[in-house]
Amino acid sequence: MATVLSNHPDNVTNEGLLAWVDEMAAHCKPDQVHWCDGSQEEYDRLCDVMVEGGTFIRLNPEKRPNSFLARSHPSDVARVEDRTYICSLSKGDAGPTNNWMAPREMREILTPKFDGCMEGRTMYVIPFSMGPVGGPISHIGIQITDSPYVVVNMRIMTRMGSKVLDALGNGEFIKCLHSVGMPLADGQEDVAWPCSPDPKNKYIVHFPEDREIWSYGSGYGGNALLGKKCFALRIASNLAREQGWLAEHMLITGVKNPEGEKTYVAAAFPSACGKTNFAMLIPPKQFVDDGWEVTCVGDDIAWIKQAEDGKIYAINPEAGFFGVAPGTNYKTNPNAMESIKENTIFTNVALTDDGDVWWEGMDGDPPKHAIDWQGNDWTPDSEDKAAHPNSRFTAPMDQCPCADPEYDNPQGVPISAFIFGGRRSTTVPLVYQAFNWAFGVYTAATMGSEMTAAAFGQVGKVRRDPLAMLPFIGYHMGDYLGHWLDFGRKLSNPPRIFNVNWFRRDEEGNFLWPGFGENMRILKWIVGRSKGKAASVESPLGWMPQYKDIDWRGLEFSEEQFDQLMSMERDEWLQEIASHDELFFKLYDRLPKELTFIRELLVSGLWRSPEHWDMKHE
Ligand code: OXD
Ligand code: MN
Repeated sequence: MATVLSNHPDNVTNEGLLAWVDEMAAHCKPDQVHWCDGSQEEYDRLCDVMVEGGTFIRLNPEKRPNSFLARSHPSDVARVEDRTYICSLSKGDAGPTNNWMAPREMREILTPKFDGCMEGRTMYVIPFSMGPVGGPISHIGIQITDSPYVVVNMRIMTRMGSKVLDALGNGEFIKCLHSVGMPLADGQEDVAWPCSPDPKNKYIVHFPEDREIWSYGSGYGGNALLGKKCFALRIASNLAREQGWLAEHMLITGVKNPEGEKTYVAAAFPSACGKTNFAMLIPPKQFVDDGWEVTCVGDDIAWIKQAEDGKIYAINPEAGFFGVAPGTNYKTNPNAMESIKENTIFTNVALTDDGDVWWEGMDGDPPKHAIDWQGNDWTPDSEDKAAHPNSRFTAPMDQCPCADPEYDNPQGVPISAFIFGGRRSTTVPLVYQAFNWAFGVYTAATMGSEMTAAAFGQVGKVRRDPLAMLPFIGYHMGDYLGHWLDFGRKLSNPPRIFNVNWFRRDEEGNFLWPGFGENMRILKWIVGRSKGKAASVESPLGWMPQYKDIDWRGLEFSEEQFDQLMSMERDEWLQEIASHDELFFKLYDRLPKELTFIRELLVSGLWRSPEHWDMKHE
């Protein structure tokens, strides 16, 4: 039994929950236990406590009302994939793309670390729902944490507090245990950003069979806000596979045509491919004048289930945006800029002299002086960046001007198309529609992105990232691709699958496509295709629009430019397909056989076509 002070609410009857919280309190030994009610008062109080303790800096209320800046420890700035584990009972079930350790062995390492890890701190109990509370696609988790920074971020990113306990009743929940791993024994002083500075002493661990997450040593983002990548993707992908649904790293966006007909699409792009920008796209003026409207249901994660009417519906399990700040401005993403005007938590951006925030790529001239993300003086002449490249804003979804009216609908929105795309400077055309579901799964399985930072290896080399799920799949990637094939097989009218590449360049290295709002032109064709309306021609890869099939009003873009963007070289594609083997061989023992056959069909299609294929060829 816990010997600590607790504000344990009277309405908790869930025996499993009570026992778990008591057990964790006895083990982690906090000074007190606080059950979060999710109220504004609680949020404000914790923010005040953090301002007092130095974790938060209150921003100028005239510039950025009710907003705060946090600066992390320099060792704690991003998700840590090499410290992230899937501890399934069998190593084979985690597969070759995940770090694995036997659950017993991992528990033996971590149990002593959690022993007394919250000394001198408060243990917070956060009841949260991923998805609207009580909804048929939603799921509940309880996070135990010693970080008030995590509590306030979770209040923005999830539906959190007493209402979730009411909905939980005696039901099941995902256990999420988190500690920053820095006990304050013997009256030791706290620091602004407590964490375990040794990278080898950070652990982000998933036990899929027990439906548990244990995270130790990091206070940052996806390592610590356990509802996001850990629960909504890694654990949920396991639930989804067992229960026949999909938990995906996808944005969800709604497209309304001038007749008022709404079509929802879900799209997966690897990190650093403009996902948040696409989720909140503002169409070109001519489209807006006609009455086209794009609205955002979610920018990162989609949970997708088949309903009784046979159609598939998606919810965004999150309630806020945890977006990358650098590069966000009124040109790239006006809706994001509007969403972060107030009630926002900024992490690792720069602080201006007038108490506002700044990052590289923000509108206007850089400030003449600022304090950088590490707390040092900064001027435009400084060598270092003012904001960390992975600095973030945490903002509530309902502050987004283009939030879709249905984003909070527990039933979700019907999905008509899936879009996949990576960052490729060559080879991959602007857009094509896969021939059918299985070809689409092949395209999604083999999507890749050229590496922009050296973090994962050689810059420029293509990193295969199947369905943008490489760091987020909670089981064997081969089984996951099989699950996708299976899911489509059961649908009488599956959503159409498209591949896009906004990043193709010419020989001088210039982008061939303007991107951002102009992507609407391609989205319009995709929506048309998914409703069986827009025209196309057959290419070796799938169905493609001709120049005449795209709405070009308001943009000067010649047929030659379009041809260049859509062209394919047979040799390049044969090499591309050969390089898919690197992934396929890795997944060999569980690779669905359809994918191998589709590969052969693609090669044969390429041999039937001219060496240089372009839109003039019909
Ligand atoms: C994210 C990511 O942080 O995908 O959302 O890396
Ligand atoms: Mn993401």
